[in-house]
Parts: sequence; C-alpha cells; structure tokens
Amino acid sequence: MFHCPVSVIVCACCPVDRSCTYPDCWCGQELQNTLRQVQKLLSAHETSFQQNLRSVRKKLSLLQNNTVKHSKLNTGKKSTGCPSPEPLANGRILGRVFKVGHEIHFLCSPGFQLMGLETRRCLDIQTWSGTQPSCKFRDGTEYNNASVAASASSSSFSSQPPTTTRPSRCIEFLGSTHCTCEEGYSISRQDTKLCTDLDECELYRRTQPGRLCLNTCVNTAGSFFCQCPSGYNLARDSRSCHDIDECVRGAHNCSREQVCVNTHGGHRCVEVGCPRFRNATYIKTSALRCDRNPCLQEDKTCLHAPLSVNFHFMSVVSNISTPTVLFRLSAARVLGDTLRFGLMGNRGVQHFTIKRSGRQTGQLVLVNSVQGPATFQADIEMSELEKKVLLGRYVTKVTLFVSPYNF
Ligand SMILES: *[C@@H]1O[C@H](CO)[C@@H](O)[C@H](O)[C@H]1NC(C)=O
Ligand SMILES: *[C@@H]1O[C@H](CO)[C@@H](O)[C@H](O)[C@H]1NC(C)=O
Ligand SMILES: *[C@@H]1O[C@H](CO)[C@@H](O)[C@H](O)[C@H]1NC(C)=O
Ligand SMILES: *[C@@H]1O[C@H](CO)[C@@H](O)[C@H](O)[C@H]1NC(C)=O
Ligand SMILES: *[C@@H]1O[C@H](CO)[C@@H](O)[C@H](O)[C@H]1NC(C)=O
Repeated sequence: MFHCPVSVIVCACCPVDRSCTYPDCWCGQELQNTLRQVQKLLSAHETSFQQNLRSVRKKLSLLQNNTVKHSKLNTGKKSTGCPSPEPLANGRILGRVFKVGHEIHFLCSPGFQLMGLETRRCLDIQTWSGTQPSCKFRDGTEYNNASVAASASSSSFSSQPPTTTRPSRCIEFLGSTHCTCEEGYSISRQDTKLCTDLDECELYRRTQPGRLCLNTCVNTAGSFFCQCPSGYNLARDSRSCHDIDECVRGAHNCSREQVCVNTHGGHRCVEVGCPRFRNATYIKTSALRCDRNPCLQEDKTCLHAPLSVNFHFMSVVSNISTPTVLFRLSAARVLGDTLRFGLMGNRGVQHFTIKRSGRQTGQLVLVNSVQGPATFQADIEMSELEKKVLLGRYVTKVTLFVSPYNF
C-alpha cells in the first residue's frame, strides 16, 4: 500500500491509485494543470482590461470630438488649423486654440475702441474668417505704439468705466450648449453668449464685509484691487494696509530741534520744551527729558518741584478696544519705601486712569474708546516717599495721537 508522506507539502509524485487525498499534497501533473488554468485566467483578465482601455480611449476621443465647437467642419479632416493670428495692438486676443472650427475674440484695452469684427473663426480652408480688427484710441486717432497705450490706459483707468462684458466660451456637448466665462466674469442674464464683469467689491460688501479689502476696494473689468489711504502701503497679502514709518524712512520734514513721531497713517514733528514750575528751572538732558536745576537749600517751592519731566508720545488706531494698558511706569532706582502714582490736574481724566500693577509699577490705562483723528494728553506724577516724607516727584507728560483709521 502506498502512503503519502504527511510531513511534506508538495509531493514529488502522484499515488498510482490516487487513493490518498491530502489537501496539501500536490502532484506534478496536477500542479501543471493548475498553473495552466491560472495562466488562462490571467490572459482572460488581460484581454478584458485591454478592451476596457480601448473603450475608455474611444469614449475620450468621442468626448474630444464633441467639444470641438463646430464638429461638422471637422469630419473627414485631420485636425489642422489656422496660422497664429497677428497680435492686436492695444488689445488682447481671447482664445488659444487655432484649429478649424475654433473662434478667437478681440478685446481692446480700456480707452480703446474695437474697429472691425469682434470674432474670427478658423475656416476649414485653414484661414481666419473676416479681416483683422484694430483698436482705436477713443479720441479718434489711431495709435499703434505701446507708450501711448500705457499712458492712455492709466489715465483712462479712473475716468472711464472698465469694459464690463466679454464673449463667453461655449461648447456643444451631447446636444446641449454650455457656456463659461473667464475668472472674474459671470454669464450675462440677458445673453448667455456674453459674460459680464463680476463686481467682487459689491459681492463681498454684501456677504463678508471687510474680508476682501481692509480699506477701499476698487472693481475692475474681470478683477479688483485694494487701496490704502496715504501713509499706508498695501501689504503683501494685497488686502491689508501697512503703516509707513516716515520717521525711520527719513521721509519727514522735522527740524533738528524737533522729534519725529510716527503715527498710524502719518507722522508728527513735536517740539519738546522744558516746563516751568514755580521757583524751579529745568535743563534738557535728552531729546525727551528735562531735569531740574539745583535749588537753593531754603527754597521749599523749588525743592517741591518735580526732579525730572519725561515726555512720551504714542500713537493708537481709532476706536481701539478699551480698557487698554498704554504703558507701564516705574522708577529706575527706588530710594524710598513707597511709590505713588497719579494723574496731575484734570488733563485726560475722562479718558485715562492710573492703575498699580506692582509695588513699584503703575500703568496708564485708556478707559474710554476714542475716535480719531484726535490728540489727548495726560500728565502722570510719580512720588517717592520714605517714612511718609517726600523724597522727590517725577512727571511724565503723555501725548496720544489717535489715527483717523481703525488700522
Ligand atoms: C474623432 O475624430 C477623429 C478625427 O477628427 C476621428 O479619427 C475619430 O474616429 C473620431 N472619434 C470618434 C469616436 O468619433
Ligand atoms: C507713438 O505714436 C504717436 C502718434 O502716432 C507718435 O507721435 C509717436 O512718435 C509715437 N511714438 C513712438 C515711440 O513710436
Ligand atoms: C517737506 O517740505 C517740502 C517743502 O516744503 C514739501 O514739498 C514736502 O511735501 C514736505 N514733505 C513732507 C513729508 O512733509
Ligand atoms: C522763590 O524764590 C524767591 C527768590 O528766588 C524767594 O524769594 C521766594 O521765597 C521763593 N518762594 C518760595 C515759596 O520759597
Ligand atoms: C467701534 O468698535 C465697535 C466694536 O469694537 C463697533 O461696534 C463700532 O461700530 C466701532 N465704531 C466705529 C465708528 O468704527
């Protein structure tokens, strides 16, 4: 009796009477049969795959043939075309396919008028229909040079309304016509052959105010741009405004005696003059600081005057949210045991308040929202005491420039 070996997976031979049928016992002949079957299966798959590919290719080709606008002209012909059209001086040519049945459209730059056909078609004799149009300057003279075109388009830019319509691009597909427009245009409600300019500024004003431009939005034919007030540069994102620092750039007329202060949207030239306090005199020790001259030992009035007066100029945007800490104030070196902070006089009391933020620091807080353009002033007094005896007073004169814009 023949015994199939149990421990071996593939048998080298087949049992003569095929009486043992271990599931994992494969014999040479059987193995070959199986391999042939797998081969057949694979080749059937390959054929089917090739067929599918051919079918997809055919469908694509059909689609391509259908999108050719005037497919009738194309039948029985190789897809040949017309020569590249001559460039249009002071205008543009829309359409980049110069094959038989395709159309190109002519568009003049702002300030120019199209003389002649708006559209030419590539005929099956491989020439363009009609004659080449031209763009005429609106004052009646025909120009062909770029320098005139540039000046004409820039000068007419603000005075003349932009061209607000353009031909649409239509394709016929499976019996229906689909028209599309270039970016910035939408299909005219009156005529699907026309695209009308999309007023992005108006659209965003209604849906997402402030999203498109931080300041002014200017609609143009097919597009828009943002503008900033003078004193600002358009930011890299093309929608925000960046303040120009005239003081850093040196773009100011401040004299040597003046101090240039950059503000949001401009700058100020300020003059720092030492104040007068009864019986005390001051000397300017730096651009923004005055120190008291020595007093006579018995002159109590002079001794009571501030030891130093500092000047502080700041700029904020209009309608800043409040309360806002404008700055912190502290003594450079503390000799006494107590520091007191307060506003001097009535100046700015309706807008500012002083808050302590530590044993040796006070902060100036803007409490009421302010609308620009405006200028506010406040004088802060810091007193230093030792065992309740006044050691000295220090004054900081604050000037706050509020910009006309909230950016
Ligand atoms: C598409 O057009 C080309 C020539 O324009 C032609 O050879 C081809 O057979 C067409 N394909 C179909 C699916 O009609
Ligand atoms: C541009 O055209 C104007 C008017 O035809 C002509 O006076 C001027 O010389 C031309 N400029 C150039 C650079 O061709
Ligand atoms: C500086 O002064 C000149 C002459 O007065 C003036 O033309 C110019 O605009 C001024 N510049 C600035 C930044 O104020
Ligand atoms: C102010 O100074 C004058 C002399 O310079 C002196 O006569 C007067 O007493 C001083 N005032 C006070 C309040 O000390
Ligand atoms: C000021 O800001 C508030 C919100 O922070 C806003 O409701 C208000 O309209 C703004 N006022 C002006 C004049 O911009």
